[in-house]
Order: sequence, then structure tokens, then C-alpha cells
Amino acid sequence: MKRLLSGIQPSGELHVGNYLGAIRNWVDLQDEYEAFYCVVDLHAMTVNSPAPESLGERTINMATALLACGLDPEKSTLFVQSHLTEHSELAWILNCVTPMGELYRMTQFKDKSSQHQQNINVGLFTYPVLQAADILLYQASAVPVGEDQVQHIELTREIARKFNARFKKVFTEPKAVLTRTGRIRGLDGQAKMSKTLNNQIPLLADEDAIHKLLRPAFTDPARLRRTDPGNPKVCNLFPLHQGFSPDDDIQRVDKECRKAEIGCVECKRLLGANMAETLAPIREKYHALGNDHVQGVLRDGAERARAVASKTLEKVRYGAKLLKV
Ligand code: AMP
Ligand code: TRP
Repeated sequence: MKRLLSGIQPSGELHVGNYLGAIRNWVDLQDEYEAFYCVVDLHAMTVNSPAPESLGERTINMATALLACGLDPEKSTLFVQSHLTEHSELAWILNCVTPMGELYRMTQFKDKSSQHQQNINVGLFTYPVLQAADILLYQASAVPVGEDQVQHIELTREIARKFNARFKKVFTEPKAVLTRTGRIRGLDGQAKMSKTLNNQIPLLADEDAIHKLLRPAFTDPARLRRTDPGNPKVCNLFPLHQGFSPDDDIQRVDKECRKAEIGCVECKRLLGANMAETLAPIREKYHALGNDHVQGVLRDGAERARAVASKTLEKVRYGAKLLKV
């Protein structure tokens, strides 16, 4: 079975954009691959975002949410990055084959250093090297990510090639696997759904909260009156229908919106009900999973991950001709 690795930062509450754009895909892929999923807490330390919870709490909440969405510890390995010292150790070694110039080119570094001008730290700069270590330790051939991460995966390939050429062929070159859902826009219709822009539907919202959030949501700007025909292709909410509604409802909305047979109010009510149906079991499972259980899953996960990661690191140490311990 081919191996896969992906990571997510414990940056706070998940929203339905994360679910459709990443997590649902992770759940599907665990049947096709030997999958490793990592909560990347060390990456989250590169920004200083004030959060009500500690990094540890955010980490366990993220792991709980992933399990609630359907990651199954019997099928895939879920673990926390900082629980394995192998990640930071390999990152150091890879720092030594990564050209500074490549890191300066990274779009995410440019964006984040302009967003956090008071805190442009070295971690933010070498962030992609730690990401390369996450991937290369597991010899993963596939890395499911959103398109904003493609540049980091390309760099990972280059780092692997540089190490293999300078020392010894140790690493497999990974490929990005793009999720079929594109960017989900926020309820304001202006930008991608994101917690920082406060235009999200939280994954754990209940049915009332979902309806409340959808009511004022931006739809199709040309549809001002109930009698104006709409265009699902430009409607901000149609991608959510495609993510959450059964096929019959998607087809009905697609047809009736164009003919002004269904209004936005009714359409939002239908969407809200469909979203609630998918999200209710996730919310229930989230609240039912106890911290002790999740900690146990993460401990097991770390052990399984270490079995693979420590072998790779041994090859790296040997390849780089470091003195044996
Ligand atoms: P972030 O919270 O931005 O680090 O994203 C975590 C994961 O969710 C990444 O794989 C993103 O590609 C995905 N993601 C975040 N926001 C959206 C969105 N609005 N639409 C689709 N996918 C998203
Ligand atoms: N940088 C990724 C993001 O912002 C998170 C990440 C860290 C990751 N390590 C990874 C993704 C390894 C894939 C593989 O979304």
C-alpha cells in the first residue's frame, strides 16, 4: 500500500471550509493509503496568535475534531508532531541542504511576514523545512493539500533531491494530491472562508446557529428580488450545497434557482437542514470523545509513527556519515 502524510495546524476551531477542503478527503483517503495524519503543533509556534486556549488544548481539540469527522485509528495513524523528536532533528539536517534563496521565494513566508511584522522569526522562515521533514520521515509518496501548499511540496522534492545527491539516496520524492473541492468562500462572499476573517460556519455549530449564520449570507449579487433568476455558478452558497446536500436537492436547486422557482430564503433553509444533518453526528461525537481516550489514540499514534520515522532517521544519520551513538 502506498504511503501518505498530511498535517494540519492546531490553529483553533475548524470550519466547514476545512471540512470540505481537507478533512473529508483525509477520511476518504485512509482506505486507499497507509495514511499518517499529524497535528503540527511546532508549526503553530511560528505565529503568536493570541488564543483563549493553550497550544496543548488546541492540539487535543484538533485531534478530537479529526476523530469526530471520521479519522479511524484502526485505519490510519493520528499523532502530534512534537511527540516525536525525529521531526525537529531531521529538520535541522535538512536546513543544511536547503538554499536560503528558495525559502525567501515562498509565498506563505512573504504573506506571513507581512501579516506578523512584529514577529518575523527564524521559525517562520524555515517552516517549509520542518514541513519537508514531516513528509520525508515517512517516505510518503502522496501529500493531500490545498493548492496554497503546492509550492512547499515542490520544495520538499527539491530538498529530497539535494540530500539524495549530496549524501546517499534515502528519500522518496512526494507528490501533492489536490483536493477536488476548491476554495470555499466565506459567508460574506468576499474571500475564502477563514477564522481570521470571521466569515465562517464552525464545524461544531448546531442547527439553529447554522440557520442564523446562513440567513444574511451573500448569494448571487444579480439576484435582488425573488423573481430574478439566479445563477448557481456564481452563487456563493452553491458550493456548500454541493458539499452537503444529497444529489436530488443539488439538482433541484440548480434547476429551480435558474428559473426563479426557488428563492434564496427557501434555498438557505434547505441548505441549513442538510448541513445540520451531516454536522450533527460530528458534533455529538466530538462531545462524546473524552480527553483520556483521545490522549490514548495520540500515544498509540506516536508509537506507530516513531517506528517508521526512527528507521528513516537512522538511514539519514548513516547517509550523512555522522558518528554512531
Ligand atoms: P488552515 O486552517 O488555513 O491552515 O487550513 C487547514 C486545511 O483546510 C488546509 O488543507 C486548507 O487547504 C483547508 N482550507 C482552509 N480554508 C479553506 C477554505 N475556505 N476552502 C477550502 N479549503 C480550506
Ligand atoms: N503547512 C501546512 C498548512 O499550512 C501544514 C503542514 C505541516 C503540512 N506539515 C505538513 C501539510 C506536511 C502537509 C504535509 O496547511
